[in-house]
Amino acid sequence: MNNTMRTIRTIIEPVPVIEGAGVRLKRSLGGEQLNYLDPFLLFDHFGSPKAEDYEAGFPMHPHRGIETVTYMLTGEVHHRDTLGNAGSIGAGDVQWMTAGGGILHEEMPQVRPEGNGGFQLWVNLPAQLKMTQPRYQDIPSHTIPEIITEDGATIRVIAGLVAGTEGAVTGIAAKPTYLDVRIPAGTTFTHAVAQGHTAFAYVFEGRAAFVGDERGAQQWVAKPALVVWEDGDVVQIVTGEEPVRLLLISAQPLHEPIARYGPFVMNTKEEIQQALSDLRRGTFIWQEQVRS
Ligand code: CO
Repeated sequence: MNNTMRTIRTIIEPVPVIEGAGVRLKRSLGGEQLNYLDPFLLFDHFGSPKAEDYEAGFPMHPHRGIETVTYMLTGEVHHRDTLGNAGSIGAGDVQWMTAGGGILHEEMPQVRPEGNGGFQLWVNLPAQLKMTQPRYQDIPSHTIPEIITEDGATIRVIAGLVAGTEGAVTGIAAKPTYLDVRIPAGTTFTHAVAQGHTAFAYVFEGRAAFVGDERGAQQWVAKPALVVWEDGDVVQIVTGEEPVRLLLISAQPLHEPIARYGPFVMNTKEEIQQALSDLRRGTFIWQEQVRS
């Protein structure tokens, strides 16, 4: 291994947005700052102790051409979809949905004393899988492996392979690595990320120093912030007097054209028009397309 240290490409400050029927969240990817970080289309951080910030939820809405990964930190979300799935996910759980050719679903946060919080990531589907059969999976918290690295960091391996430990979420087309990393105070955490892969960190507790440039200058990043790395094969994160907790997410880019419109992400404008027309004509859901 070459050990080319990845440096900071850009630091994104999350922007407050209102989504669904009136949910307040913080957006770092998929907004004006960075519309697309191939293959990641959107990254939202939702979290509030106040019911009025989240209780309106996300009533029934469509998706096509993407996969969504929801990771809960706090509270509970009830969901149901046109595949016939219904249930709830709570703290530490992951919900992974392949929208494929078309799904409608509902995500309704429940009012709880501890509030509601977590993340939603949209991962692009390669062109040949845009219209694939929708799939859905609930991954309970206790099935997500947790490892302690030689550096002393604790990693929940949500997806991907770390030191021989396979993540709990498998089957995402873009094969992302999705890690929840806790680094104690006074620690230097070094982690390999394959060359050529897109990689970012989302700092949501505490602060840490990242490698700012090729000479190794440290740049401090405090929550909430999303750090996009330059290419290389290793990342390094250093803590000072306080610990940090962050998501470390990476994947190979698809290098395909994208056309996006709200919950639809396809390769061409014509395919977006088709999605809108399917929705109007009631032929949007994947099962119905098979019958027609
Ligand atoms: Co949705």
